[in-house]
Amino acid sequence: MSTGTGETARMTLRDFQERKDRGEKLVVVTAYDSLFGRLVDESGVDAVLVGDSVGNLLAGYDSTLPVTLEQMVYHARATRAGVKRALLFVDMPFLTYQVSPQRALLNCGRVMAEGGADGVKLEGASDSVLAAVRAVVDAGIPVMGHLGFTPQSVNTLGGARVQARDAAGAKKIVDDAKRLEDAGAFSIVLELLPAKVAARVTEAVRIPTIGIGAGAACSGQVLVLHDLLGLNDGFNPKFLKRYATLADDVRSAVRAFGEDVRGGRYPDDDHSF
Ligand code: KIV
Repeated sequence: MSTGTGETARMTLRDFQERKDRGEKLVVVTAYDSLFGRLVDESGVDAVLVGDSVGNLLAGYDSTLPVTLEQMVYHARATRAGVKRALLFVDMPFLTYQVSPQRALLNCGRVMAEGGADGVKLEGASDSVLAAVRAVVDAGIPVMGHLGFTPQSVNTLGGARVQARDAAGAKKIVDDAKRLEDAGAFSIVLELLPAKVAARVTEAVRIPTIGIGAGAACSGQVLVLHDLLGLNDGFNPKFLKRYATLADDVRSAVRAFGEDVRGGRYPDDDHSF
């Protein structure tokens, strides 16, 4: 999209909704820093998500629970520096939005003001989360919901497994999605759900659903960048499609550098002053 002034127009939430309404699929990927933020922005995605998966991918935690608000503000600000056109959404970490709507508002406000986010993502649809969503939306902050497998509840959900496999579970997800929409959410991530359940949710709400391991009927899809690039090569869930094998490229490039250094081939005259 061009403004005619040589600058690229920034996506808005209205564009996001209108693309869904026109039946265009929405494309979202994660990023955690300015370099990858710039590369994915230049690749034409609709939105970039600074996920709290940064805890697993970059910090080496075994869940998203230890991720702090300071870490999310830092990664949001870094990613914002690279993302000039796409929307930038940021995950609110564990316990920064459930305790009270007031705390949720202050914490989400920091991510918006200091991190440069266009919206925040909150997991679940419990009464406390819905109260937080209402307070945050009321203050003018766009909120994306997240249903199905919600990684911050990994301990109660018994691991990263497909949710809502029975009729009662499916009904609860549809009801939760409607409650999130009523509370003011502008979109909902659906993670690890049977494709039929995600299709029912997508039918039941007007706002876009963004799937990850939730089938093709969602309004759009999100993948974790390091997974789709094949950088996180130990992670092999059924839903993941790899579009590159960068872990192999990194290992062979660094191995080749080592061999050149040890063999006296680098630096040669072409790379010396
Ligand atoms: O943290 C994250 O990367 C996410 C996506 C998996 C949707 O929430």
